[in-house]
Amino acid sequence: MRYLIIFVLVILLSSLTMLAQDLPSGEEAMGTKSYDQFENPKTCKSCHVDIYQQWTQSMMAQAYTHHWDEIEYFDLAVEHAKVDERFLSASHGCNGCHTPMAYLAGDVPPPRPEKNSRANESVSCDVCHTISGYKGDIPYNFSYVSQPGRVKYGNKPGAVSPHHETAYKEFYTQTEYCANCHNEKSPFDVYVKSTQIEWKEGPYAKEGVPCHQCHMPRALGKNATMAEIDTVSQHLFHGAHDRGKVGGSIELRMHPEEREIEYDDTIVLKVQLFNAKAGHKIPSGSVEDRILWLHVTATDAEGKEYHLKVDKKGFAGEEYTISSDVLAYQDLGIPKRIPNFQGIQRDGVPFGDRIFRMPYFDPEGRMTIMQWNTKSLGVDYRIGPRETKIETFTWPLPDDIAIGKVHFKAQLNYQKLVKPVADFLNVPEDESEIIPVNSAETWVEVYE
Ligand code: HEC
Ligand code: HEC
Ligand code: HEC
Ligand code: HEC
Ligand code: HEC
Repeated sequence: MRYLIIFVLVILLSSLTMLAQDLPSGEEAMGTKSYDQFENPKTCKSCHVDIYQQWTQSMMAQAYTHHWDEIEYFDLAVEHAKVDERFLSASHGCNGCHTPMAYLAGDVPPPRPEKNSRANESVSCDVCHTISGYKGDIPYNFSYVSQPGRVKYGNKPGAVSPHHETAYKEFYTQTEYCANCHNEKSPFDVYVKSTQIEWKEGPYAKEGVPCHQCHMPRALGKNATMAEIDTVSQHLFHGAHDRGKVGGSIELRMHPEEREIEYDDTIVLKVQLFNAKAGHKIPSGSVEDRILWLHVTATDAEGKEYHLKVDKKGFAGEEYTISSDVLAYQDLGIPKRIPNFQGIQRDGVPFGDRIFRMPYFDPEGRMTIMQWNTKSLGVDYRIGPRETKIETFTWPLPDDIAIGKVHFKAQLNYQKLVKPVADFLNVPEDESEIIPVNSAETWVEVYE
């Protein structure tokens, strides 16, 4: 009898593990579930009040409804797939990360945000807490396995809840969990998002500091109204949309080669940029949209202001890292149905400023912000975790320089979306607001 029970148990267990392996993930998971299988975040709110309020303020809760997402998805990705069916599954795939329930329910394209459908729940509590694992070596493109139901998985062994069952999974404390959505490949097999891969190659992985420590920091509190006080993982998910998170993430220092100089001589300045705060490169994630640039000005003793241009270093592809008067993003003409579209200004920042970025190229080699239309990547001139980059500014003093102290200011700015693109697509202002990252100052004495 005892052997029979053990035998039955073994069969049951092995069929369960087989089931887990057979469960769909990524593209094959589209249309395998229904909305009804997932609970509404408002249900979780009744007990997880604090976590709920944190989540509503995060981009996770707006991943589908946020205006720029709506514009890029409906006006660019969906339209692009209509004229070129190679992009159909990539355009469906947006939802696999931005509104997983809609994707799993096969409701693609989902109703527009104004329709107030369940797609608006975006990356919700129940979507995240019923992920049971992932398939593949490196997780990317919504490779998670979704098993909605009574069991909510998490980081706390032995948690007891009146509403649901709980199960501990170490996976929830690991970066692979995040990588399911924070690594992305284009249909051309190019990594167009690689935040977790960047992390893995950097110093924080070696020190065992996962994404969670910076984006879900642990603090004393209650994770549910009826729970004991304990350390609780905060659901902040603060990133590029949080001025405080971006501000100070890179430290700046600037110094001249000589402190005193003759009025007809040349000033040489060095600026050091140190990525002190991020566990990955800056910018990371939506690199195709983001722009980080260094602007250096001089003010002479009479208050005249001058703009300094960065010295060229001479590496391959450098032209994409110095702001200049060129057009780009011609492929926007495809979804916008503008024949022979000439493109728009590439950078929208003062010419001669250094830009820290990695350009994405469409199949015709033109710079693009449509990450699904990316066939190759250009020079990677972003600032890695704990990396320091040095920029030099050589400035032959202008004839009209005033004698006395010249003050220099280096300003490092960040923009979530390149301004000319934001203007062209009518994206609301806050997406292209200028976010100051850091600044540095120094001076040189000019004598006769
Ligand atoms: C993007 C996915 C994601 C979303 C969305 C999300 N969570 Fe979590 N949650 C996690 C992860 C990952 C952990 C484990 C964190 C860790 O290991 O530090 C966690 C931990 C928790 C915990 C245990 C916290 C503790 O340390 O005591 C609770 C409770 C919880 N989540 C509830 C919720 C609720 C309720 C919502 C919605 C309001 C929500 N989560 C939204 C991913 C998510
Ligand atoms: C009736 C109250 C109640 C509701 C509703 C509720 N929970 Fe919980 N939940 C709890 C309690 C209590 C705990 C245990 C807290 C502890 O002791 O750490 C818990 C624990 C959790 C944990 C931690 C599990 C672990 O092992 O780490 C997660 C994740 C979680 N809940 C997610 C959810 C989600 C998602 C929803 C909505 C679909 C939800 N809960 C709805 C009361 C509730
Ligand atoms: C189910 C997919 C999914 C998972 C899993 C997921 N994320 Fe996200 N995350 C997203 C999406 C989609 C956005 C972008 C929302 C937007 O801007 O439209 C996002 C946004 C963010 C942001 C905000 C970035 C910004 O620009 O402000 C941070 C930070 C973040 N996630 C961290 C994490 C961490 C840490 C984990 C793992 C604990 C994680 N995410 C797991 C899908 C996911
Ligand atoms: C040591 C702290 C730290 C770690 C570890 C870390 N981050 Fe970040 N993250 C930051 C800071 C600071 C920023 C703001 C600067 C920026 O936007 O790049 C940020 C920004 C982001 C952004 C927005 C990037 C952009 O430029 O749009 C995303 C998305 C993100 N993190 C996800 C993750 C994920 C996923 C992991 C783990 C694989 C992770 N982070 C690990 C500190 C960290
Ligand atoms: C593998 C998951 C994944 C897929 C697939 C995906 N995204 Fe995203 N998306 C993200 C994450 C994560 C972020 C946040 C990155 C960051 O903040 O830097 C993001 C950011 C964005 C942003 C920028 C949001 C902002 O406010 O700056 C837009 C717009 C966007 N995605 C649209 C799309 C469209 C359209 C598609 C389909 C063609 C798509 N995404 C496919 C995960 C994904």
